[in-house]
Amino acid sequence: MTAHIIDGNALSAQLRADVSARAALLTERGFKPGLAVLLVGDDPASAVYVRNKVKACQDHGLHSVLERHPATLSEASLLARVQALNADPAIHGILVQLPLPAHIDTQRIIEAIAPHKDVDGFHVASAGALMTGLPGFWPCTPHGCMKMLESIGYELRGKHAVVIGRSNIVGKPMALMLLQAHATVTICHSATPNLAHHTRQADVIVCAVGRRGLLLADMVKPGSVVIDVGMNRDQAGKLCGDVDFEGVRLVAGYITPVPGGVGPMTITMLLINTLEAAQASAAAEGQA
Ligand code: GUN
Repeated sequence: MTAHIIDGNALSAQLRADVSARAALLTERGFKPGLAVLLVGDDPASAVYVRNKVKACQDHGLHSVLERHPATLSEASLLARVQALNADPAIHGILVQLPLPAHIDTQRIIEAIAPHKDVDGFHVASAGALMTGLPGFWPCTPHGCMKMLESIGYELRGKHAVVIGRSNIVGKPMALMLLQAHATVTICHSATPNLAHHTRQADVIVCAVGRRGLLLADMVKPGSVVIDVGMNRDQAGKLCGDVDFEGVRLVAGYITPVPGGVGPMTITMLLINTLEAAQASAAAEGQA
């Protein structure tokens, strides 16, 4: 048996066509969705990520602003920029690219973003809303994983999902989303003994660690769904995930590739969150 591949590029293209149509409608009504992206310092990976985010906005009719600041920017100056964008009616979403330089308190910056502009879903108000099942922005990467499961018509109710990784950006919100969809959820992490014992019982495995070769074929139950959030380089410098794709695809029922899996879905969900923020702003002014 060879696993079906869940194609993140194809699913993104479908969802993004809808983004373009909705952005055009909002623009006609004077609410062109706007995203501000703040980059501090010159981390090369972050520079690529923010370029891709801004380009996706341009490609789908959203307004975008990219602010690049030197690594020496003070925390007070960054806070002032966030506050100015909170008050800017042309901006519906604010994204501060992480990681920030060590002299800046990341959580203080995130908490300064107005929750209704928190399209990354990292604010404590967004995290609390997800935790309690209230409306709010969901972090883009785990939300993209949920959309991929939805795209194959997968019924999570009563299934056993194993999430590997416990970050605030992926692992923890992923577990909460799966729980909200009525899965039984296990969270594994670096201190979990015998990872394979857990993964072998899973109907769904989400790998979000950032370590090549983490999940091997003999750790997977036949027919299970394997979602790979990892972004690593192999010995030849080629992009790869956490999952041994060639081995696991012979056992799993569904698998996401890297590249072309979760990666494009993350940006797609950012566009959707920004659109939702603009829609809410239009509704608040009685025009949607
Ligand atoms: N750094 C790595 N992933 C992300 C993300 O999804 N959002 C932000 N703001 N920074 C990141």
